[in-house]
Amino acid sequence: MIYFDEQTGIFHLQGRKTSYLIQKNQQNHLFHLFWGSRLAKRFPDYLLKEIKRASYLADTDHIKEYKLERLPQEYPAFGNSDLRKPAFQLSYKNGTNISDFRYDSHEILAGKPTLTGLPSLRDSKGCETLVIHLMDSVQKVKMRLFYTLYQEADVITRHTELENYGECDVEINQMNSACVELPTMDVELLHLSGRWAHEAGIQRTALSQLNYRIESLRGGSSHEHNPFIALVEKETNEQFGKAYSMNLVYSGNFEATVDVDQQEAVRMQIGINSTTFGWNLNPEATFVTPEAVLVFSDQGLQELSHKYHNIYQNHLLAPQFAQKERPIVVNSWEASYFDLKEENLLQLAQSSKDLGVEMFVLDDGWFGKRDDTSSSLGDWFVDQHKFPAGLSAFIEKIKKLGLAFGIWVEPEMISEDSELYRAHPDWCVEVPGRLKSYSRGQWVLDLANHEVQDYLIDTMSALFREYAIDYVKWDWNRSITEAGSNVLLAAQQKEFYHRYVLGLYRVVGTLTERFPAILFENCAGGGGRNDPGMLYYMPQSWASDDTDAIERLSIQEGTSLIYPPITMGCHVSQVPNHQIGRVTPLETRGIVAMQGNFGYEMDLSKLSPVERLKIKEQIAQYKKIRETVQLGKFYRLSTSEKSNAKAWQYSKDSQIVVSYVQVQARPNFASKRLRLVDLVSKGLYELPNGEKRYGDELMMFGLAIDPVKEDYFSQQWVLKKVED
Ligand code: DGJ
Repeated sequence: MIYFDEQTGIFHLQGRKTSYLIQKNQQNHLFHLFWGSRLAKRFPDYLLKEIKRASYLADTDHIKEYKLERLPQEYPAFGNSDLRKPAFQLSYKNGTNISDFRYDSHEILAGKPTLTGLPSLRDSKGCETLVIHLMDSVQKVKMRLFYTLYQEADVITRHTELENYGECDVEINQMNSACVELPTMDVELLHLSGRWAHEAGIQRTALSQLNYRIESLRGGSSHEHNPFIALVEKETNEQFGKAYSMNLVYSGNFEATVDVDQQEAVRMQIGINSTTFGWNLNPEATFVTPEAVLVFSDQGLQELSHKYHNIYQNHLLAPQFAQKERPIVVNSWEASYFDLKEENLLQLAQSSKDLGVEMFVLDDGWFGKRDDTSSSLGDWFVDQHKFPAGLSAFIEKIKKLGLAFGIWVEPEMISEDSELYRAHPDWCVEVPGRLKSYSRGQWVLDLANHEVQDYLIDTMSALFREYAIDYVKWDWNRSITEAGSNVLLAAQQKEFYHRYVLGLYRVVGTLTERFPAILFENCAGGGGRNDPGMLYYMPQSWASDDTDAIERLSIQEGTSLIYPPITMGCHVSQVPNHQIGRVTPLETRGIVAMQGNFGYEMDLSKLSPVERLKIKEQIAQYKKIRETVQLGKFYRLSTSEKSNAKAWQYSKDSQIVVSYVQVQARPNFASKRLRLVDLVSKGLYELPNGEKRYGDELMMFGLAIDPVKEDYFSQQWVLKKVED
């Protein structure tokens, strides 16, 4: 529930386990009072008073030392007595950039208003929205701060709107989606970082008096940093400790910052990256920031993940896919790359079907004259040399085998050697007179251009209509460089990056609405745009281009911190692994890929009889546990050897699935056990060998790990609760 207390001016957003408090003072400034564990319906106005800066309550601005800097701000402006990093900065016609927004009114709405043109968590029963209206009395600009409380899910979303009701343009230089302050720097910064083929590594850093910045300048949310930031108590582990986090529902350049001030207070913010952003707000126009999802946990990272998984699965993903089990796919990429031959592909499909696979995905190389990365992006018509009888005839054969059919596209890109480029050379992202850098031999289409957006919508619609397509893998394989648009005016060029993202959302929004039965998979050279913005439209993501099972352990662990397993694409691939050359056992590759949406990225028509047998068993095993993996609750388990072994658990109804992977064998092996979590203490569980154990025993003593002398050894247990 959201409460407002007139007397103290305090707003109390009270979730199932969380409270968030904002206070306005007599001068109508907004202060961030508290975010943390749930409080009773209280309005503690002594908190601000007890900060040693007594004048904050004065009923006039004209007092000695009204230092906003000493007080925790809810949405700090630039240019006043708070000289820390602001949440927004505007420039006005008179050349100044000082703002002073004060509380004007507020409303508490049932449900949630939508964010025009942007993805956001969906409205749900039981959510309420607080809108705080602010005014700058010198400049004719209104600001609205939005807070939606998802009561049961215990999650708060925030965004800001700015409306220009004056007669002159207002320039937005920076506008964050959310800002919070913690009174202590005795916390660590936690974020997910990496690079191409090595995404989402969990990083933890102790804070000192510094400004920290996690960002993307690549045009997409990036492999380098996920648009996620958290502050966690030093002791926080999976099950204990507090964690305060923000995740931005946005797929472009973002910044997430933490600033420790001279009094050791900590300000954490997230929003569009101000380095590559500017916006002219014309009279009567409104600017809407992306949405930030705020999740607090006082029971460690496990609860944090559960809150994200629950809200994303149920309120972010397209509803028709939220609870829908995903097919087991075979993807042609690592099996054939560009060397697509109909006969081989049909053999691959036939063998895959025999093994139990449910969907065939035709990856890159089926269109134009694409035999390598140097050509054809933009030419979304079938290569007749590779499919002489046409794509429909090929798909028909696939479907006759009893497989669903998926296809790869990379619509936002253009090759120099393409019919599209010859017809529309001006449709590229470019700055006239400047070098247009290639990356992977390709350029980026200007999605800030409405004509390009319409073209993509029409071309993709025609493709999806013409062919019996069940699944689309939507790829994006390079960053944006030399950013500029041929259709934007000089004053709008600074808006390019954000306009690109808005254009992308218009394209994917229209297509996913037009083709609701198609399962879209988001990919950007793996996890280069794995963010809640894309997940809103595409209910799953290819987690990484690195398919090595051991590399995948940390990639999937980091990804699982925020994103639910049902959204995480994980495939078994060949050995030696194509990205790093490692040889791992097929069992381990299978167990690691079973952490999310399972599939194969290898030539299943060229297996030894033993491999065939093992893969058949693997697929049968995944089908037995799929519901639990995709619709159950996920837990990262503690192992005694942190980086040398990873373990995880899923629970749904009476099924518990536990997986363990050890990286390197160690000599003089002490017997090890793996403790499970969140079982029914008195419940009786049957182990795969038929033995039975009580829940409390499994949680306290754990399962015995086999002492195997082998690198990359793995083990999986499927337990059944036989008595409550
Ligand atoms: C990058 C993707 O992540 C791969 O899986 C594959 O689809 C290639 N692109 C195709 O070019």
